[in-house]
Amino acid sequence: MDFTPDDSVALYDEMYRWDGAANASDRFYDLLVMAAESVLDIGCGTGMMLHQAREQGHTGRLVGLEPDLPSLRRARRRTDVEWVEGAASDASRWHGEFDLATMASNAFQCLVTDKELRASLAAVHGALRPGGRFAFETRNPAARAWESWNPAVVHTIAGNGWDLRQWHEVRSVTEDLVTFTETTATPDGMVLSVDATTLRFLDEARLDAFLAEAGFAIERREGDWQGGPVTDASRSLVTVARRA
Ligand SMILES: C[S@@+](CC[C@H](N)C(=O)[O-])C[C@H]1O[C@@H](n2cnc3c(N)ncnc32)[C@H](O)[C@@H]1O
Repeated sequence: MDFTPDDSVALYDEMYRWDGAANASDRFYDLLVMAAESVLDIGCGTGMMLHQAREQGHTGRLVGLEPDLPSLRRARRRTDVEWVEGAASDASRWHGEFDLATMASNAFQCLVTDKELRASLAAVHGALRPGGRFAFETRNPAARAWESWNPAVVHTIAGNGWDLRQWHEVRSVTEDLVTFTETTATPDGMVLSVDATTLRFLDEARLDAFLAEAGFAIERREGDWQGGPVTDASRSLVTVARRA
């Protein structure tokens, strides 16, 4: 059985369907996006959030920035949004143009080195108009999410033409970097793909130091999607930062 990168991103959409009515995290972003005249979605993936915003009647400027070509190909199925190939640091091509920048679904954790983080935050800051907001979430290292990423936990994806199994395995944990693989297989165990990813788990103090250095002020910091405070048990550090 052939399982192409295009199949892989279609599967992502199936598993993580954007739905502001059902998911508090999607609703958090939807409210911000619908209230902003111009939006830059960084690491937009397959473009689900911006597709949905247009669908819901957003009439302003919507731009998706994404380095992964299969994801971008899928995003481009909708042509009434601007789609740009590039990493977060490539946001340096825009100057003072956006009311809102977003990095949804933990895309921020893909910024793994200090150099990449600094270049990305400087670029996002420059792309926003003064007073513009940058909204994103990153998993809270105190909650140690990676400890549940093990092959014993097998996810079944069945229905809508799919019948697959998927599991994760942590390969290394080095300081604040976690490298893991995601394996996709048929129900009888034939492996179709193994993809490795490294994510950075910044704690609140380090995160805020990077944001301050780039010229951002924290407007909101929450530990969940209901507006609760950050505790050691919080799974996410949800942030709305403002370009000072
Ligand atoms: C978990 S996905 C989230 C996709 C999308 N935001 C969503 O909510 O469905 C993370 C995305 O970040 C992208 N990414 C990886 N490195 C990046 C970088 N340096 N700058 C921007 N995006 C990056 C990946 O290609 C991937 O599409």
